[in-house]
Amino acid sequence: MSLYLGIETSCDDTSCAVYSPEKGIVAYRTASQLDHAKYGGVVPEIASRTHMKTLLPLFETVMEDAGLELSGLAGIGVTNGPGLTGSLLVGLSFAKALSFGSGLPLAGIHHIEGHILANAIDGPMETPAVVLVVSGGHTQLFEVERPGRYNLLGGTHDDAAGEAFDKIGKILGLPYPGGPSIEKAAREGDAAAFDFPRAMRTSGECDFSFSGLKTAVRLKVEELEGDSRGLPGGTVADVAASAQEAIVDILAIKSVMAVERTGAARFYIAGGVAANGRLRDVMSERVGAAGAKVSWPPIRYCTDNAAMIACAACHHISAGRTDGLELNTFPRGELISWA
Ligand code: KG4
Ligand code: ZN
Repeated sequence: MSLYLGIETSCDDTSCAVYSPEKGIVAYRTASQLDHAKYGGVVPEIASRTHMKTLLPLFETVMEDAGLELSGLAGIGVTNGPGLTGSLLVGLSFAKALSFGSGLPLAGIHHIEGHILANAIDGPMETPAVVLVVSGGHTQLFEVERPGRYNLLGGTHDDAAGEAFDKIGKILGLPYPGGPSIEKAAREGDAAAFDFPRAMRTSGECDFSFSGLKTAVRLKVEELEGDSRGLPGGTVADVAASAQEAIVDILAIKSVMAVERTGAARFYIAGGVAANGRLRDVMSERVGAAGAKVSWPPIRYCTDNAAMIACAACHHISAGRTDGLELNTFPRGELISWA
């Protein structure tokens, strides 16, 4: 049995996992950094310093959980971008040291490929497929020919969908991160209460824009508040439900377009926003009606995690694609096909 270690430290989650193609995830732990909530967003220096403290003990615990020594592994995968440079450097330096000390092959993994291949953890992905990657930093539609071959169909011109959730959450005074808070608030609200814009609806392309929605919500909240401070709970719920509906609606419109354009019979959702129940329901219904079977990873593999990185490492290393110790981090950059 071949076992692969995955390390993920691109933002504010420290995560290690061991994956094998035969057994799936053998051991997996994530330490989420809670200190950022009081600042209303991720503070890069706190994130990298916390990774420094957390990564070594977390790695040791995961290896203990798996009952493994380094010599029992077949390779190491680590996210080397995109992400926060300080955070990425902690994971990459650690992975390089492990690889140097043990002689194990090393593979740098693009964070977005990790999110896509979260759909391959519990069994092979059915391809060709369309994958919608929706996270705090990314909103992109890919045609996946097979793991390792990706065609970008379109992406966002400004904010990512998760970023829109987070910024709207902040406007509404809801706890950070905004995504789960808005989903919770929206359950008590009327999604038809306010008609927020669906930008790029008629662009004819698989592209997105969410910055106008955030502004429309801010203006609506200012109008509803008038001279008072804050909104009544019922109105917060209505704004949350209407904003969530606008985000989900435009994601569905463009996803249906991508499926019709490619003729793909399979559609996967990936990234932190895939945790949203309303998104999953609407996608199942509308993309399903367009002829593609829709699925998403278990929630624990939707938000940032090393299980997806370990699974991606297995794909790279078993195909012979590895990196040397000169491997560096990159803060931004498109996903490039390698297979
Ligand atoms: O993939 P992820 O953990 O990190 C990035 O790579 O960005 O995604 C985090 C994003 C945040 O913007 C968060 O608000 C959003 O995923 N998110 C959600 C939900 N859970 C997390 N958005 C909407 N509904 C949710 N239930
Ligand atoms: Zn992510």
